[in-house]
Amino acid sequence: MIVFGIETSCDETSAAVVKDGRVLLSNIVASQMEEHALYGGVVPELASRRHVEVLIPVFRQALTEAGCTWADIDAIAVTNRPGLLGALLVGTSAAKALGMALKKPVVPVHHIEAHLYANWLHTLAPPGYPLGAGAGGGASVQVDYPAVALVVSGGHTDLFHLRGHSDYVLLGRTRDDAAGEAFDKCARLMGLGYPGGPAVQKAAEGGNPKAITFPRALLQGTHEFSFSGLKTSVRYALQGENLPSISDIAASFQEAVVDVLSKKTILAAKELGVERVLLAGGVSANTRLRDVMQERCDKAGLALFYPPVALCTDNAAMIACAGYWHLQNGRTANLDFETRASEPLAGVQ
Ligand code: KG4
Ligand code: ZN
Repeated sequence: MIVFGIETSCDETSAAVVKDGRVLLSNIVASQMEEHALYGGVVPELASRRHVEVLIPVFRQALTEAGCTWADIDAIAVTNRPGLLGALLVGTSAAKALGMALKKPVVPVHHIEAHLYANWLHTLAPPGYPLGAGAGGGASVQVDYPAVALVVSGGHTDLFHLRGHSDYVLLGRTRDDAAGEAFDKCARLMGLGYPGGPAVQKAAEGGNPKAITFPRALLQGTHEFSFSGLKTSVRYALQGENLPSISDIAASFQEAVVDVLSKKTILAAKELGVERVLLAGGVSANTRLRDVMQERCDKAGLALFYPPVALCTDNAAMIACAGYWHLQNGRTANLDFETRASEPLAGVQ
């Protein structure tokens, strides 16, 4: 089965062609990051307009690179929630039009669920596909259920118990800032620009992670997170008399985030008795997070999975993969689905 994936929930316009939920035939991502960087963050109206402009060329490129025509496509999968409403509507309107014209099913996909499915893609992607550095968590166990998953993106820090396809329990989430938001806000405080995650990671490379012991909100007895106190501490550190170097502050901040994320995720996996841990979302591209998670998972006897860097941030291949599994599991689609700015992926049990 060949699925055409569409993603326009934020500032990336992406289209992908994925075969059997695992073989990436193409994955085109047109980023608007540079335009939004001028304003220090995503400007929703600008995002919608750019999606409209580049959507058709991106679609064409996805088909060409995959060596396909519309006739080869069996189904269309599109992000319909959560995200910027105007941006989402560009993708869902196009998907519905395609579905109607091609007489093919259209499957609405939850963006966060798709981030989780990026883990299914990478372990099964064909050798040689240009996925970039860092592919694979090195686990010998196949990615499967049950698992504990940490989704860390610009808007989410969610810990899930994954029991099966579309059978998820939310263990906990952030009480305030998301991990990616903390990276973005602290990068701005440090004058490192937007998006903050990659900038902080780069600045941290030459820094001492032990230079400053930033607070770790472990919120024991819960699976919840909090990063707003850490952000305040970074602000104070920048106002000190004997100002440490930006590299040291960045490395120490990154260490505090990674320490909390890895400790809490591994504790949850142990409590639930699962043997797999999955990372997903933009922040899972962070090298230090991957390394510390790997070290601690190895120690705890847990198999760790994370997508290659190119599939951690927003892309349509993960949308196509999620759509494939929905169809496999008998979730029939019709064209009257809604587009929603917010909707939790799963409830707390
Ligand atoms: O998943 P994503 O592309 O978009 C959302 O759905 O939010 O995640 C974007 C977030 C941004 O906050 C960005 O700063 C962060 O992921 N990010 C990183 C890294 N690469 C992207 N954070 C830390 N280290 C990175 N290398
Ligand atoms: Zn995302």
